[in-house]
This record gives sequence, C-alpha cells and structure tokens, in this order.
Amino acid sequence: MGVRAMRRFRRPALQERYVDGRTRAPFVERLSDEDLDRLNALLPWRCFTVASDGRPFGGVGGKRKRVDPETIPDPRIQLFHERFDLSDKHVLELGCFEGIHTIALCRFAGQVTAIDARVENVVKTVVRCAFFDERPRVFVHDVEGEADREGLLQADLCHHVGVLYHLEDPVTHLLRLGRAISHGLMLDTHYASEESATEEYEVGGEKFRFRPYKEVGRADVFSGMRPISKWLRLDDITAVLRSAGFNAIDVVETREERNGSRLLLLAERTNVASAATRSRATAATQPFPGSLGAVW
Ligand SMILES: C[S@@+](CC[C@H](N)C(=O)[O-])C[C@H]1O[C@@H](n2cnc3c(N)ncnc32)[C@H](O)[C@@H]1O
Repeated sequence: MGVRAMRRFRRPALQERYVDGRTRAPFVERLSDEDLDRLNALLPWRCFTVASDGRPFGGVGGKRKRVDPETIPDPRIQLFHERFDLSDKHVLELGCFEGIHTIALCRFAGQVTAIDARVENVVKTVVRCAFFDERPRVFVHDVEGEADREGLLQADLCHHVGVLYHLEDPVTHLLRLGRAISHGLMLDTHYASEESATEEYEVGGEKFRFRPYKEVGRADVFSGMRPISKWLRLDDITAVLRSAGFNAIDVVETREERNGSRLLLLAERTNVASAATRSRATAATQPFPGSLGAVW
C-alpha cells in the first residue's frame, strides 16, 4: 500500500473525530475506555451517539445505514416543542428503536412513555436513556397487537416517526390513536404516490388505496412486525387523522427519499376536551364503526 493510500485509512485522533456530532451523556463520559468497549459490545446496537469527549456509544446500523452519529435533539423534536410546548405534556413515543428521540423528548417534555414492539429495542432504549440520566416509562407494545386495556398509552401528545409505513392496517391504527391522544401529534412517514397506490382495502365500509410494501421480518430491528405493510396516500392520511379528531393539520414538508415520498406533519385537536368527554364523543361520531373494538 502506498503512503497516500495509507494516509486515507489513518484513523483520526479522538479529539478530531465527530467534532460536530457530540452530545452530552453524563454516565458515558464517566466510563473507562474498557467499560465503554464492553457496553458497546454488550447489546446489538444499530445506531450511535458521540459523547462530549468524542467517544462513540452504540454501533452502526449497517454498511450504509446509520453510519453517522445521531443528533440529539433531532430538529423535528425542536419543531414539535415550538408548536406544542412539551414542558408540561405527557408524550407517547411510538417505535422508540434505541432511545435517541426518547432522550430528547425527556429533555423537553413533562413525562415520556416510549414503546416498541421489539423487546431488544426496548432494552436498548432503557439502557441508553439511563446512561443519559433520563428516565422515561418504556415497555414492549405492538401497536397492531393487543388492545391497551390499562390505558397505558393515554397521553397528551404523540411522537410518531418512522412507524406508520410499517403497519398492516394504518387506518385502524390512526383511528385508535385518536382515542389515546388528547391534544396532538407529530407524524413523519412515507406515503404512497398516486401511481404506486395500486391496491385497495376496506375499513368500516370505507375504501383506502395503498402501496404494498414487503417488510424484512422480525430479526430486522428497523422493520415492521408483519410480512406486508400498507403505505397510504397523503390525502387519506390527513382525512383519517381528521376523522380521528385531529381537526387542524399542518403538512410541514414533503420530501423524496431513496425508498419513496415522505411527509412531516403536525396534527392538533383544537377543541381539546377531557379524556372522558372525548371518549364519549368519539364513540358517538365514530366514522368507521366496525373497525374499533377497544380503546387502542
Ligand atoms: C424505522 S424504525 C424508526 C425508529 C425511530 N422512531 C426513528 O425515527 O428513528 C421503526 C421502529 O418501529 C418499531 N415498530 C415496527 N412495527 C411496530 C409495531 N407494530 N408496534 C410498535 N413498534 C413497531 C420497530 O421495532 C422500530 O424500532
């Protein structure tokens, strides 16, 4: 190997690495290099943060996936806070993955409940949050599985990023969400273009066109839990959110990504009622009555 090629592979010194991507992580910074190496090997981390001292905590997602440090807070969470003032709110985070957004939500919000269908993601979220000195309530929950009979998912706001396009029945999911979330949500999701929405399914007598999307399977920690998910059209997503009670919807942006079109929106119930009033009103005006057996 020539000197020039060797230079290209030289590993930069710690103080030169990830200068822009560092985040304060109090209990990571106290670890010896040996303990941090052990922590990084202990769990199957698929994304990483960089502590103030430049040392990475976690692992990469794949050859080209999550190879850069995660930013805390993600700019979308700042937007969420500017719109809803999270400081006295209870936020429900769906699909918490490894806790990156959870940490930022804990720093802004009054209370955070974070759920994920994969137990390994829940464990990684609990551990990562603890090393950042944050204490959300975190547990395993499949949003298309068992109903939430104990009301554990009831919250003021919902952080809903990267999950809707992994669901088998996203319409029923959004309608159920309307019963759990009293104030508003931030939704970031892929959606189907008019041309790609080639199939159709029915919820409570209403037809919804969708793009079928093949999921990778249980072992892939980024993936949905069922073999095929349905990507809805943007107009249907906003119409279903209105039916779920979120009457004010602001589509902040649409963007084209490698896998397809994606949107970021904020949805709000501007006539915020108490949970009990809302539950009665939703039951009385439920647009797709056949689809909802339980609160969640
Ligand atoms: C693409 S990742 C997005 C992670 C994170 N929200 C983000 O934006 O970085 C999808 C996450 O949703 C979780 N997930 C997929 N299907 C789910 C379901 N039915 N119920 C709950 N979580 C689910 C996955 O385990 C994974 O953590």
